[in-house]
Amino acid sequence: MSETLSTDDETITAGPETGLGRSCDHRSGAATDLRRVGINPNFWYPVAVSRDVRKKKTFAATFAGERIALYRGDSGTVYALEDRCAHRQIPLSMGVVEGDVLRCCYHAWAYRGNGRISQIPYLPRGAARPPRGVRAYPVREAYGLVFVFPGDPHNAAETALPELPEFNSARHKTMTFSRTVGCHYSFMHENLLDMNHQFLHRGVVGRIQPTLLAYDTSPHSVEARYRFTHAGGKKNRGAGLLTAKGAGGTASPDVITIRTAYPYQTLQLVPENAELPAFSLWVAYVPEDAEQRTNHVYGLLMIEKPPIPGAMHLAWPLIRRFTERVFAEDRTAVEAEQRAWDEQGEDWNREVFPLIMDVRHVLRTNGVPLRPESALCGAAAFCSNPPLASTTPHAEPDAGHKRPTG
Ligand code: FES
Ligand SMILES: [Fe+2]
Repeated sequence: MSETLSTDDETITAGPETGLGRSCDHRSGAATDLRRVGINPNFWYPVAVSRDVRKKKTFAATFAGERIALYRGDSGTVYALEDRCAHRQIPLSMGVVEGDVLRCCYHAWAYRGNGRISQIPYLPRGAARPPRGVRAYPVREAYGLVFVFPGDPHNAAETALPELPEFNSARHKTMTFSRTVGCHYSFMHENLLDMNHQFLHRGVVGRIQPTLLAYDTSPHSVEARYRFTHAGGKKNRGAGLLTAKGAGGTASPDVITIRTAYPYQTLQLVPENAELPAFSLWVAYVPEDAEQRTNHVYGLLMIEKPPIPGAMHLAWPLIRRFTERVFAEDRTAVEAEQRAWDEQGEDWNREVFPLIMDVRHVLRTNGVPLRPESALCGAAAFCSNPPLASTTPHAEPDAGHKRPTG
């Protein structure tokens, strides 16, 4: 059945009704509510900014309800252990770093970086066999971030870290973002990909007219290209510095390419008639809690330096202020979306923009079933969850879920 709605000046033909006036994405059928889809742990995820993990110190990190104790040993290497002592479960992040070993603060059991217990100081002869240790996560440091691999560790070596050539380029300077946003990571992908929300930013960027030039979808990605035309209104100075190639910028339209390449997102802005991007943004949304209603945003904004020496130094605080203002507006919107979802208990979205329907499909089919009990378990990586694409909607938690070795 289709329905025709009349407005003052036009007629809109709506598609078939579904249930309680709630429509589904065009590809989802009886799909799982996207806000109940867990992020796939079989990728590298940043869980800390490198400079926050100081030598001989611990750092309490988290991934989707799994608590992770990071520590940097004397050698400078960062290790990541399940954040619970195998003895009495208190967080190892409360412990003390000795050399490259982490010693629990309570009875001083010592752990190597691979999670194995290397010493129990008071173990008497003939005592019961102690546990072997706790889980260790594969760790890598890159781009000023500490990445862990929370999925099946056997997949870690063959899973590439993101490639960000601009990070190390002398022509670019990187601004790092790290903050928690109170919403499911899917809202973040939708927010950045759907540039039709410039109305939200009208106070900062003036009247921006986004035109979708093209978009492309694959099983793991959605890429959209927009032309941004400034159609009047006051434009923030930081925005001008960021988008118009520094102080000598022009008012020409910009082309913005945004890509969700599961599980990351990127945005590049190329001023019209320019060959290289004025800036590139790489971002990861890392769920913090087991229900994944909160995510930690790690962003790297790689900005091309203007040709005038010292100009970047002067522009930096203005660019920072501009990006913070835009981010604050986006945060307000996505957190309000999450609150609506919490109050409604399910996703009542009625999406109309095809590429957003596509990104919802990508996030759903590449994700895994949510595992609310993982907060208690801390061992989700031992569950080899298949992606949702090959599971039935609302699949029951994997019965084969194993406890860590201990
Ligand atoms: S609780 Fe860690 S050593 Fe006892
Ligand atoms: Fe925005």
